[in-house]
Amino acid sequence: MRYFLKVYGCQMNQYDGRLIEAILGAAGHCRVDSPDRADLILINTCSVREHAETRAKGYIRMLPKGKRVGILGCLAQREGIDLIEELKVDFVLGPDCYSLLPGIIESDGPIVATNLDGELYLSIRPEPVLPVTMVTVMRGCDNYCSYCIVPYVRGNARSKPLRSVVDEVRRAVGKGAKEVLLLGQDITSYRDGDAGLAQLLEEVAVVDGLRRIRFLTSHPKGVDDKLIQVMKEINSICPHIHLPLQSGSNRILRLMKRNYTIEEYYDLVARLRREIPGIGITTDLIVGFPTETVADYEATLKAVEELRFDFAYMFKYSDRPKTEAANFKPKLSETEKIDRLKRLIRLQNEITKEKNTGRIGSEVEVLIEKRGRRGNYLGRTPDNLVVAIDGDVEIGRFYRVRLERIVGWTPVGTPI
Ligand code: SAH
Ligand code: SF4
Ligand code: F3S
Repeated sequence: MRYFLKVYGCQMNQYDGRLIEAILGAAGHCRVDSPDRADLILINTCSVREHAETRAKGYIRMLPKGKRVGILGCLAQREGIDLIEELKVDFVLGPDCYSLLPGIIESDGPIVATNLDGELYLSIRPEPVLPVTMVTVMRGCDNYCSYCIVPYVRGNARSKPLRSVVDEVRRAVGKGAKEVLLLGQDITSYRDGDAGLAQLLEEVAVVDGLRRIRFLTSHPKGVDDKLIQVMKEINSICPHIHLPLQSGSNRILRLMKRNYTIEEYYDLVARLRREIPGIGITTDLIVGFPTETVADYEATLKAVEELRFDFAYMFKYSDRPKTEAANFKPKLSETEKIDRLKRLIRLQNEITKEKNTGRIGSEVEVLIEKRGRRGNYLGRTPDNLVVAIDGDVEIGRFYRVRLERIVGWTPVGTPI
């Protein structure tokens, strides 16, 4: 069968897209790049905010008629059989059920499979993406931050065995990967026996030929001295950390069940910057959490101003059914949330632009990843700065680049 696969959501969903590709490829099906040419259309969905769900549903409604359609991923897990009613699709499969795919596409009639049974897909060998490949090292999350749907749709946290991760990385590097991005919703809680994330990084770092290692997402409460030590000592571990703050108000952080205070977060950032000079720190922020006052919101602005993140993903709070925060009152109006988000984005954009402008004239190491929309090449520095390249370079190679100017927020440079 020819199938088309569209992926929404986070990097873990993209990785799952490659698992799905491997599972269907082994069963003799082939992927095509447009829904029109496909017999079967698969959509791997995200549920993290209502907007993500609305977009996926809108897309599904617009699909060409007369094809088989399957909804996969987090929305599939959350709504299950209701999606069959609402969107008239053929099947619905949650994130732990992809091994059933080959059987399901051979049978007809609506099918719903949403067991969350701790699946790790250890026997599936996805093809690496070059030159930067992702490897999921754990699935699920046990934190239950009060706003978040992930633990409900992805199940309990469980880690892949360390050996299995290292093997997967070694295979990817053997096929040409230069950089690996290790993934987990709460990656600092990675465990295999006595080994935690720090030891996993040490083991991955000895893979021959691997030039760069990154990892996502670090919960601030899980970043310990051992992890910082390993980041500091091992050259191939990129000086970059994604460290979601969410809010600058201790009252809101408590309601979010984040398990740290803003003071602890400041300490951690100071420690990271002291131990790993030049480290890039990026974050996630939510505005308009239920009960958020102007003072709470201003605490977030203040934190953003003082902490000077290199980049931030910023969201307005979205009610997720079943989560604790869905019951918190009062809620903020949509216009108030949009207002707060706009001001925050303006502030962070200025900081990003200032920081990037400050690097003009410097030399950086860039791994070329892909071509951008303007046709020029795009790559990343070790500290996660995205750089556009003037001139001809090769994807998958490293260059010394002199940064010369800024377009939007992106520094543009020339290879030396
Ligand atoms: N595991 C990561 C990311 C989870 S989802 C972490 O621990 O931070 C990515 C981001 O989406 C979160 O960091 C949060 O900022 C945002 N997010 C999650 N649930 C949300 C909700 N209900 N409304 C708005 N933003 C949300
Ligand atoms: Fe969601 Fe919190 Fe888990 Fe991140 S750590 S996935 S925000 S519950
Ligand atoms: Fe990822 Fe969205 Fe699911 S962020 S884990 S695809 S809810």
